[in-house]
Amino acid sequence: MSPHLARLGQLARQSGRRIIGLMSGTSLDGLDVALCYLQGHGPGTRLTLEQFCTVPYAEDTKSRIRQVFARDTVSLEYLTLLNPWLGRLHARLVLDCLRAWQVAPAAVDLIASHGQTIYHAPRHQHQHPEFDLDATLQIGDGDHLAVGTGIITLSDFRQKHVAAGGEGAPLAAYGDFLLLSSPAEERLLLNLGGIANFTYLPRTGGDATTAFSTDTGPGNTLLDATVRAHRPGLAYDEDGRLALAGQVHEGLLAALLAHPFFTAPLPKTTGPELFSTAYLAAAQQRSTTQTLGLEDLLATLAECSAGGVARAVQLAFAGRTAPVAVYASGGGAHNPALMQALARHLPGTRFARTDELGVAGDAKEAILFAVLANEAVAGTPVAIGTGRQRVPAVGMGKVSFPG
Ligand SMILES: Nc1ncnc2c1ncn2[C@@H]1O[C@H](COP(=O)(O)OP(=O)(O)O)[C@@H](O)[C@H]1O
Ligand SMILES: [Mg+2]
Repeated sequence: MSPHLARLGQLARQSGRRIIGLMSGTSLDGLDVALCYLQGHGPGTRLTLEQFCTVPYAEDTKSRIRQVFARDTVSLEYLTLLNPWLGRLHARLVLDCLRAWQVAPAAVDLIASHGQTIYHAPRHQHQHPEFDLDATLQIGDGDHLAVGTGIITLSDFRQKHVAAGGEGAPLAAYGDFLLLSSPAEERLLLNLGGIANFTYLPRTGGDATTAFSTDTGPGNTLLDATVRAHRPGLAYDEDGRLALAGQVHEGLLAALLAHPFFTAPLPKTTGPELFSTAYLAAAQQRSTTQTLGLEDLLATLAECSAGGVARAVQLAFAGRTAPVAVYASGGGAHNPALMQALARHLPGTRFARTDELGVAGDAKEAILFAVLANEAVAGTPVAIGTGRQRVPAVGMGKVSFPG
């Protein structure tokens, strides 16, 4: 037997595994690196976050990714080069983190790498009816991570989800269910990344069939793109200061929320391919708000993100009571303009951060991929949700050996 395969078999039999989860979302802010220790698997999973860091992407890295990110037309040569380049960059960033944490690479059992989404093309959103399928593409090849770090790497988690009938996103339901469901309360776990999504967790804690995840629309993506367009050099509206100084423009808000995505049935996924500066420009044209100032634009966009969440909550809980406990995570949880807009749209809701439940909100997405890798190696796949909301019972992630 190959020694690498034997090592993987041994890892699967161990009672615990040290796994690095890597996540780089659509915000392109950086690489989230979460060093986790996982004991057990399935409903018995216990996770300790040993270290966490977001390594900010250099401007050069962001601009290389933006050459292809969410674009209709790209240079195939550029894309071919970017794929291994990002894999190597991620390997170097992992080694830098391990050095800073004084952890030897040999003490890490696995890397779980999400990669960088460069295009998300669910059936309802892409422009090619000749392809009757959902698709999504992540780059930053896993072989380069494995060889670059010497650590067995699982990557490209989303393809199996698509192959088994999903849209490839959101995958949060699985890890959220294993780590954060509670017998004491029903929960909504709201992640505010570039795109916003939530996972519904039933109170029972044991019944996987009613849990599900869905995207709700833009989180930070339109806010960030607008700040970048008006204030070159700024990556985002820190602490929502600009948005809080503005007024919501009801006409523009209505134009933004008029897109059929917001009324489409759950679950659904989306990306900056749809919620782009072109989308905003079209809504501004329809509402004749082309000259609206930056502050008012941002106030309106925060309201639009919150409105998207509220509409998805209405769709999910039509005719029954929505959970009163919402736990936020992701960078948008640090934006008071967004959180205040959400409080207006979901009155009677108690908002907290997942940190209150023992899972650091900034690390949650990276942690969830460590959980998926743990399940793929040691677990028995279980289905989450039913019907259209079902996350199939499949192990996700492709294995790359270091040699
Ligand atoms: N202090 C803050 N004030 C306002 N927005 C913030 C703050 N910190 C982070 N953000 C927002 O969060 C984004 C990053 O969120 P993240 O969860 O990493 O998203 P993604 O998964 O898309 O990378 C930033 O681009 C920014 O919009
Ligand atoms: Mg990020």
